[in-house]
Amino acid sequence: MQLKNSVIAAALVTGTALAANSTVSVPSSCTITSSATATAQGDLDDYSSCSTLVGNLTISGSSLSNAALANVEAIHGSLTITNATSLDSFHADSLTSVTNLRLNQLTVLSSASFGSLQRVELIEFIALPALQTFTTNLRSANMIYISDTSLESVNAFSSLEEVAIFNFNNNRYLTNLQSTLRTVSNALEFSSNGEGANVTFDSLIWANNVTLRDVNSASFAALRNVNASFGLINNSITSLNMSHLAAVGGSFAVVSNDQLTDLHCSNLSQVGGGFVVANNTELNQINGFHNLSSVGGALEVQGNFTQLDLANLRSVRGGANVDTRSGNFSCNPLRSLQRNGGIQGDSFVCRNGATSTSIQLSSTSSSDSSSTDSADASSTDDGSSSSATATVSSSSSSKHNGAAQFAPAGSFFAVVAAAAAALL
Ligand SMILES: *[C@@H]1O[C@H](CO)[C@@H](O)[C@H](O)[C@H]1NC(C)=O
Ligand SMILES: *[C@@H]1O[C@H](CO)[C@@H](O)[C@H](O)[C@H]1NC(C)=O
Ligand SMILES: *[C@@H]1O[C@H](CO)[C@@H](O)[C@H](O)[C@H]1NC(C)=O
Ligand SMILES: *[C@@H]1O[C@H](CO)[C@@H](O)[C@H](O)[C@H]1NC(C)=O
Ligand SMILES: *[C@@H]1O[C@H](CO)[C@@H](O)[C@H](O)[C@H]1NC(C)=O
Ligand SMILES: *[C@@H]1O[C@H](CO)[C@@H](O)[C@H](O)[C@H]1NC(C)=O
Ligand SMILES: *[C@@H]1O[C@H](CO)[C@@H](O)[C@H](O)[C@H]1NC(C)=O
Ligand SMILES: *[C@@H]1O[C@H](CO)[C@@H](O)[C@H](O)[C@H]1NC(C)=O
Ligand SMILES: *[C@@H]1O[C@H](CO)[C@@H](O)[C@H](O)[C@H]1NC(C)=O
Ligand SMILES: *[C@@H]1O[C@H](CO)[C@@H](O)[C@H](O)[C@H]1NC(C)=O
Ligand SMILES: *[C@@H]1O[C@H](CO)[C@@H](O)[C@H](O)[C@H]1NC(C)=O
Ligand SMILES: *[C@@H]1O[C@H](CO)[C@@H](O)[C@H](O)[C@H]1NC(C)=O
Repeated sequence: MQLKNSVIAAALVTGTALAANSTVSVPSSCTITSSATATAQGDLDDYSSCSTLVGNLTISGSSLSNAALANVEAIHGSLTITNATSLDSFHADSLTSVTNLRLNQLTVLSSASFGSLQRVELIEFIALPALQTFTTNLRSANMIYISDTSLESVNAFSSLEEVAIFNFNNNRYLTNLQSTLRTVSNALEFSSNGEGANVTFDSLIWANNVTLRDVNSASFAALRNVNASFGLINNSITSLNMSHLAAVGGSFAVVSNDQLTDLHCSNLSQVGGGFVVANNTELNQINGFHNLSSVGGALEVQGNFTQLDLANLRSVRGGANVDTRSGNFSCNPLRSLQRNGGIQGDSFVCRNGATSTSIQLSSTSSSDSSSTDSADASSTDDGSSSSATATVSSSSSSKHNGAAQFAPAGSFFAVVAAAAAALL
């Protein structure tokens, strides 16, 4: 239902390659030349003498209620069960391998048993609203896509260590996932599943993309690297500590997690794309990125925070947009970084809750700006600020109350000054 085109395309390509297995020799009765559709148990029984089936088999139709594919151990091709509107249970317990296993639009299917199944390229389950039981003995799979089922647990995948795609969405009873995955070479996505779902990916060392939505808790105790993007969006997670995460190749986004109070990535030093920590309304102190030194895209931090510790930040290739509702936040460290060329993009906005008040006053209170800038006069304010935009000067002229009350700012200044010196 929500299958991405790229996934379909990849699966089709793989299916083709594996189905065309010229090394297999099977009786012609076990070769399906153009795809066959079984609509009755008798059609499936025709294959019961085949240990290997070559070709694509589809099971469909409204007359099947319980069906089984007996004896077949391998299918070099796809097994697709679709639109079998009365099918309540299906068994293929001798099957150890199949290229693509697709089950979709099976409105009453409650049980699917593949007790011996060890190897698949693709498992794609879509719109199986009654499915509660799915058994396998899975050891190897490339793409797993499970959408809109009633599965409560995912024991069927408990031995998997490597996949390309692992995507669970809209499985409304799925509330707990303890994954054994070590690597995900394309995308890991877990979204819109059971309310309050708790997920644990403590064996995961690297993943190409990670996206979590609508989970209550998440754990990535071993995660070292995300090659492309990391996204944590709209969850009810209260805290997340990814202490081994060293680099994210693409963007790092933690957005709209309205119960998040603690976010720690103490070893994260490089983000290749944008760094976005936004609209996490309870995240009042953003102090878990002490080691972040370079951001390949833009820096976007929005919310209601009093502290933003980016003490090691030396380079932002894009612009910066930092905006907090709190009046108790100083923009000076970021402004210093910007003036010294550490923020290379054209746009620079830093605002706090007090700023917006000040902006209204700014035309009448130009004296504010001189008192503000004295706060970071000791940093290297040497003329490299010529690229500063109107936004910068308006925000700097409006700033007048943050620095004095904001204790960590002192350490910021020292580091930013050092960073600036390194950049010169
Ligand atoms: C082709 O069939 C042989 C024998 O069943 C099997 O070992 C091999 O893995 C198959 N190759 C592919 C690409 O499916
Ligand atoms: C099986 O289906 C795939 C597409 O999903 C197709 O490329 C392949 O040729 C089919 N195999 C046979 C034997 O018809
Ligand atoms: C599903 O099967 C019913 C009859 O069993 C048929 O009328 C309908 O067209 C089928 N839908 C699809 C999408 O194949
Ligand atoms: C992702 O990064 C890990 C660790 O650096 C590396 O071993 C892996 O090959 C990378 N994977 C992809 C798909 O780039
Ligand atoms: C998730 O974990 C929390 C804390 O252990 C627990 O209170 C909650 O019930 C769990 N959620 C579900 C749906 O089991
Ligand atoms: C995963 O990352 C790749 C880049 O390696 C990107 O092209 C792709 O769109 C991403 N896929 C998802 C589902 O996020
Ligand atoms: C967050 O999730 C709620 C439902 O839980 C949904 O209504 C809302 O649109 C989501 N917001 C975003 C930004 O995804
Ligand atoms: C994060 O986890 C690491 C490893 O378990 C631990 O040493 C560290 O104290 C944790 N940090 C926070 C802020 O909880
Ligand atoms: C931190 O990241 C570096 C690589 O940048 C790595 O060598 C080191 O082991 C990591 N430390 C932890 C605690 O994961
Ligand atoms: C900070 O990052 C460097 C690599 O850039 C790494 O060697 C170091 O261990 C990290 N420090 C902490 C406190 O994680
Ligand atoms: C944060 O919320 C504001 C106001 O609702 C919105 O304009 C902005 O786009 C959001 N930021 C992100 C990164 O979603
Ligand atoms: C911002 O956070 C403070 C606590 O630090 C809280 O008192 C205030 O109500 C919050 N403001 C908004 C608009 O969420």
